[in-house]
Amino acid sequence: MRKPIIVGNWKMNKTPKEAENFMVEMEAYLNGKEAADYGIGAPFVDLDVCVRNAKHLIVAAENCHFENSGAYTGEVSVPMLKEVGVTYCIVGHSERRQMFAETDETVNKKLKKLFECGITPIMCCGESLEVFEANKTEEWVRGQIRGGLDGLTAEQVASMVIAYEPIWAIGTGKSANKDIAEETCAIVRDEVRNMFGKETADKVRVQYGGSVKPENIKDYMAEEDIDGALIGGASLKVDSFKAIIDATK
Ligand code: PGA
Repeated sequence: MRKPIIVGNWKMNKTPKEAENFMVEMEAYLNGKEAADYGIGAPFVDLDVCVRNAKHLIVAAENCHFENSGAYTGEVSVPMLKEVGVTYCIVGHSERRQMFAETDETVNKKLKKLFECGITPIMCCGESLEVFEANKTEEWVRGQIRGGLDGLTAEQVASMVIAYEPIWAIGTGKSANKDIAEETCAIVRDEVRNMFGKETADKVRVQYGGSVKPENIKDYMAEEDIDGALIGGASLKVDSFKAIIDATK
């Protein structure tokens, strides 16, 4: 019922020229592949060249500010992203929460601004190793969902994407096994159900993220509550991103 969505997250990688090369190669390859929605999250300076070369790939920003404009040196607003032609935006990635003071409150403000401007958010959530080892993942993730989605409408939430990314599995090569990933993605969906009802919970797409690679993507995708993946390292090279797409056909 839910179309899977596989999105690469380049993080702080690729110059515009490198981004262009990736897009040209991937687009030629993607022709006719429609088993899932495929996309990439790119640094701000790469977005324009990505959008201009995208025929099949969704182009997502990796962050945004929640105000339209103003004295926020170094920030990028949602109307700016809109004009460039971006259609999705990653919000609340754990790296931004940990290193750039992102909170549930700023995530919530960003989601509202994105919806106001017609851009689809990919909201990230996920616990630290400490929280995981203390068996507090459920409480933690439910809190992030409640805080992040506060005040949104059921329709908005049904249309967005939520990525569950345990921090201890990001960039570490240590992926959460499929049972842990499924259990927490089901918790994410259950919290959406509590807040917005069954229909919304049935529609919202929930991704798993954290050391997803060509060798393990299939296991995650076979799980009931996992509707795709947010992929860092393995999305940087055309060959491994292609292998991931091949594995999901
Ligand atoms: P990774 O990153 O696939 O390199 O673990 C995932 C992410 O941070 O989105």
